Amino acid sequence: MKLWGGRFTKETNELVNRFNASLPFDCRFYAQDIRGSIAHVKMLGKQEIISREDTEAIIKGLQGILADIDNGVVTFEGADDEDIHSFVEALLTERIGEAGKRLHTGRSRNDQVALDMRLYIRDQIDETSALVTDLMKVLVNLMEEHIDTFMPGFTHLQKAQPLTLAHHLGAYFEMFSRDRSRLADIRKRMNYCPLGAGALAGTTYPLDRAYVAELLGFDGPTRNSMDSVSDRDYLIEYLDALSLIMMHLSRFSEEMIIWNTNEYKFVELDDAYSTGSSIMPQKKNPDIAELVRGKTGRVYGALVQILTTMKGLPLAYNKDMQEDKETAFDAIDTTKDCLVLFTDMLRTTHFNLDRMELSAKRGFTNATDAADYLVKKGVPFRDAHGIVGRLVLECIDKNISLDELPLADYQAISPVFTEDIYEAISLKTCVEKRITTGAPGHDAMLEEIASCKKELEN
Ligand code: ARG
Repeated sequence: MKLWGGRFTKETNELVNRFNASLPFDCRFYAQDIRGSIAHVKMLGKQEIISREDTEAIIKGLQGILADIDNGVVTFEGADDEDIHSFVEALLTERIGEAGKRLHTGRSRNDQVALDMRLYIRDQIDETSALVTDLMKVLVNLMEEHIDTFMPGFTHLQKAQPLTLAHHLGAYFEMFSRDRSRLADIRKRMNYCPLGAGALAGTTYPLDRAYVAELLGFDGPTRNSMDSVSDRDYLIEYLDALSLIMMHLSRFSEEMIIWNTNEYKFVELDDAYSTGSSIMPQKKNPDIAELVRGKTGRVYGALVQILTTMKGLPLAYNKDMQEDKETAFDAIDTTKDCLVLFTDMLRTTHFNLDRMELSAKRGFTNATDAADYLVKKGVPFRDAHGIVGRLVLECIDKNISLDELPLADYQAISPVFTEDIYEAISLKTCVEKRITTGAPGHDAMLEEIASCKKELEN
């Protein structure tokens, strides 16, 4: 059913109907649409704008429609209504008669869709936040387990200094922690109710906007009616938050892909989260991590699309804004899937502790500590740097590590070295001595983990 046939004398072109319609995708927020309508009607009744009988009939009718869509009695298949708003109103009037035609009193589809989208995005923010929390829980469990698992830390993808797996994973905990707090910020800022803004200039009916806002769990009504129907900032902020989550997942995926190679063998992905090759029987590929990395571009695309759609729009509502839905919904589904899959993949990953430790030993990751050893014995740092550089060169030549170089060779380059050098550059010492806040040493990590756990409890 069309909501606007009155001033037209000709039928709408068939392609125009299809081009204009949003029902195929805005049917996704039918529950939010009906919830908003029930709040609106309760308020109309309370304000005596419509009668008590009509109010009750409409609420009952809407609840029936919600239940029937929920359990599949009513579907959207074959419906030729323009959008979810028309669909619900038409069905309501079909079911309860005259009273149904009073539902839209004091309301426009412009403030209605502004409300529906806000309610939907608010729900999605909560769901995304819960999924990020699940990932953070897996991370903190792994951190506890691997507080003494040595591995090399990298810069330029070259081995740099030794650290622990707990410390490396802790870096990702921080990223996802910021993502979660970003979601909370957005939710707080967006949590105002646009219903009552009308088409753009409010209405002459004595609406109680604060009451509707309260019924729908908002912190209050929005302030300016033109802004209320024109604002999609919250959606852009949310897509930005999703883009950052994807960026973090993508970097993590990239590391899992590298760690899973034959050359590194730091991890082995679980069979359930790997795939094979149709021609090469030996292959076990990290497709999930690669897809997460790949899908990141798709989520960025949604962010750039809505930014571009909004940038030229004069106030207030323009139909361009209907384009805020399809790619946004795709980005939301994509990010949620990626969070679920990545979390499960990480939970089931086997870490090769020996390989990680050997790799840390084999890459001169203790060279800085060898230089610091000399500094503590009075050698200026710049000289110590040069001395250890020469020792490293000698080790490369002999294909051994600094730990394996005989003391005589150390002393040939600098007489300052004594037997205690081996203790000073052991992996254990290198990591254990790093106990400043935020460093990988055992005690520093215990503090970090305690604080992460506390954050998750709140
Ligand atoms: N389907 C529309 C949208 O998504 C609903 C609002 C329509 N308003 C209008 N004046 N045509 O934006």
